[in-house]
Amino acid sequence: MKIINVVGARPNFMKIAPIHNLMLRTEGIEPVLVHTGQHYDEKMSKVFFEDLKMPMPDIYLNVGSGSHAVQTAKIMVEFEKVVLEQKPDLVLVVGDVNSTVACTLVAVKLGVKCVHVESGLRSFDRRMPEEINRLMTDVVCDYLFVSEESGLENLENEGIPHSKIFHVGNVMIDSLINHIKTADKSKIMKQLGVEKGKYCLVTLHRPSNVDDPKNAKILVDTLKTVSKKMKVVFPIHPRTLKNFGTMNLLEGFSDNENIKLTDPLGYLDFMKLMKESMFLLTDSGGIQEETTYLGKPCLTLRENTERPSTVTQGTNILIKELNKKKIMMHIDDIISGRLKKGKVPKYWDGKTAERIVNMLKKVK
Ligand code: UD1
Repeated sequence: MKIINVVGARPNFMKIAPIHNLMLRTEGIEPVLVHTGQHYDEKMSKVFFEDLKMPMPDIYLNVGSGSHAVQTAKIMVEFEKVVLEQKPDLVLVVGDVNSTVACTLVAVKLGVKCVHVESGLRSFDRRMPEEINRLMTDVVCDYLFVSEESGLENLENEGIPHSKIFHVGNVMIDSLINHIKTADKSKIMKQLGVEKGKYCLVTLHRPSNVDDPKNAKILVDTLKTVSKKMKVVFPIHPRTLKNFGTMNLLEGFSDNENIKLTDPLGYLDFMKLMKESMFLLTDSGGIQEETTYLGKPCLTLRENTERPSTVTQGTNILIKELNKKKIMMHIDDIISGRLKKGKVPKYWDGKTAERIVNMLKKVK
């Protein structure tokens, strides 16, 4: 069985790696790794192949950046050629980025069965491009692999037949479990001059936070206040850095010695920093899940989350309103040891790739 595994943007790599690597070892499955090139900076892409011990892509589409329409369309044009040439039995996509929906549309329209891993997540916020990608992908895919219970419920409410849905767990946690020991050897804390439990780790890249000057300013001000209490490590997404520069927000920020602004980091360095931090402040999707697995406090700066189990079961707290006082209140709780207790959701156990591949073996 020939299966095309699709990656495009940073959060895809840690989801595909365990699946692709297991497929390579599985008799009867011939995986082909296609990288759309949605993320192309070395630090947003190449480093993950090395860190995750994943072979370099068999096919690279080199689409790059663009408006949503341009990027999605370019991926579709290029991916169609690949599917026509490779004639796969299945196409497997992960997550909710533009590459996910673009490749799904191409596959299903060419009559190739398509598998969505991390299916069923919903923020119910259609202003988020990812929500549109999730909805479109799930409605046409043939096999839907779900990471948490809310996914089962959402797909059922959308009228998707039970026979398409499989609760397999969270494949990103497979990567975390596979690599956490190696990550422990990372020298990143020494390089940045931070100590275990004494710093906060930040990531911000959502358009709602970093494209809106008012919100971006609130966030920069908040981080400056946090930096009076502890060190702040902030590996910054290229778009966030560009926006903060254009909005004149870098003064007193990029030159603040308690704020360690770095390029985007590789997987192992980031895992290490996450594990040893006091807490995380983020608007990422995946980090909400990784912190829940690690039992690390996570403050998520978003109005909603498509990963509710991280809030109902895990250590994640949603800060729905961008308000410095409110954010600082939560941070002070953490500093004084008032921590939210959490547990790890079902099937976040390092065996998700195995469940997926076993299921796919039965497909034909
Ligand atoms: C994408 C995903 C988002 C995910 C995020 C993780 C979509 C709709 N969004 O958002 O869900 O959480 O990746 O990082 O697919 N850029 C670079 N170098 C790169 C890639 C991008 O400089 O390697 C800059 C470019 O200016 C580009 C901008 O970032 O225009 C946005 O990139 P894009 O891939 O469109 O979306 P992300 O914001 O990265």
